[in-house]
Amino acid sequence: NPETLVVLGVCTHLGCVPINKAGDYNGWFCPCHGSHYDTSGRIRKEGAGAAHSAWRYLPPYSLIEEEKLLIG
Ligand code: FES
Repeated sequence: NPETLVVLGVCTHLGCVPINKAGDYNGWFCPCHGSHYDTSGRIRKEGAGAAHSAWRYLPPYSLIEEEKLLIG
C-alpha cells in the first residue's frame, strides 16, 4: 500500500525524535541539531555537526489484514 510507511521515528544522528510534517522536505525535522528528512525517511540535509546515512533500522512488520499492520 503506497499510503503506508513503516520506519522507526528516531533520528539517525543521536537518537532524538524528529517532528513529523516539518523541515525543508515536509517529512521530518529533528530539532536537536537541525536535520531534515523527506517523506520516505531519507536524510536530505544534515544538521549542524551531524553525520547520517539514512534511517538505519526498519522494524519487522507484516500486513495481517487489509488495514491492520503488525509491527514487531
Ligand atoms: Fe537529530 Fe542530531 S539528534 S540531528
